[in-house]
Amino acid sequence: MSRIIGLGYYAPDKVYDNAYMEKIVETSDEWITQRTGIKERHIAADDEFTSDLATRAALNAIKDAGITAEEIDLIILTTVTPDYFTPSTACVVQKNIGAVNAAAFDLNAACSGFATAMTVADQFLSNGTYKKILVVSADALSKATDYADRGTCILFGDGAGAVVLSDEKGGILSTWIGARGEGGDKLTSLAYREDAEEVEKRVSHDKSTVWMAGSEVMKFAVKIMAEAAEKVVADAGLTWDDVDIIIPHQANMRIVESAAKRMGITTDRMFVNLDRYGNTSGASIPIALCEARDAGRLKKGDKAVLVGFGGGLTWAAALIEY
Ligand code: COA
Repeated sequence: MSRIIGLGYYAPDKVYDNAYMEKIVETSDEWITQRTGIKERHIAADDEFTSDLATRAALNAIKDAGITAEEIDLIILTTVTPDYFTPSTACVVQKNIGAVNAAAFDLNAACSGFATAMTVADQFLSNGTYKKILVVSADALSKATDYADRGTCILFGDGAGAVVLSDEKGGILSTWIGARGEGGDKLTSLAYREDAEEVEKRVSHDKSTVWMAGSEVMKFAVKIMAEAAEKVVADAGLTWDDVDIIIPHQANMRIVESAAKRMGITTDRMFVNLDRYGNTSGASIPIALCEARDAGRLKKGDKAVLVGFGGGLTWAAALIEY
């Protein structure tokens, strides 16, 4: 009972390409390309923060929807790099865009944030509580990246993506969200908790950076992406033949390829832009969704599977009719 009526994204101008990464850590364009498929990532300016990226994506989505900010009833913003713990980044965006009638809160499901927020928004729209919801996923992961850790710094980039959802029939056909907290220590970013062991794991011993057990996260990702995508297709009573495009979380080309293989579909049915953005956390799916539409790969009435995984460990998938 909820349909996407507007799409928008924003990525900062500054770019770190693989040649730049070669200068700051012991790596090579060849290694990064073969192991991840990533060529470049967008990086926020020193005075540019998650709410700034989110605001620009939100304004683009509102314009695309042809509505005013006053018409929005709720803003759900997903991020793991908020400007503040309070106010929520959703409240900062509400102020920036003048969505004076909107309730606003942040949601943390890490890289699974976008499809999780779509799932939550769908509840409010389906039960008649709200008519228009803005979902924004934004992260400035560069602020939390250890640029001495070659295992993570080559992966992350900054960006934001947004959609306006309206209480129209069709739209979101099925969703599945899930969590496996026992794997939470495989991908961590510390807040107030003192945890010497966690700090010790970081190459720079800097508490403010993200740490990840890359290959273990990768194994989880491949399995759960395939399982989640297959489940939302089956739950909607459809088969892969009914699906026009799959938009996976843009983390690593090897994950995308292995997940496609498990699903029994060819990779060309997936939309991939991770070569130009790297992993932008929750923003990766809405940025890709928007680019797929702009490239003519997502047309009105098309069915798309959105599927992500991330810290938590979490996963989220949605089958939508655009
Ligand atoms: N350049 C060159 N060598 C690198 C490197 C880099 N940027 N990063 C790691 N290596 C080295 C490692 O040090 C290791 O060397 P060693 O064998 O001498 O110890 C070797 O490459 C293999 O490391 P490993 O971590 O096993 O590689 P991998 O094939 O798993 O690839 C990742 C590493 C990080 C690219 C991959 O694990 C990955 O993408 N994981 C998923 C991450 C993800 O999606 N996270 C986001 C969740 S939302």
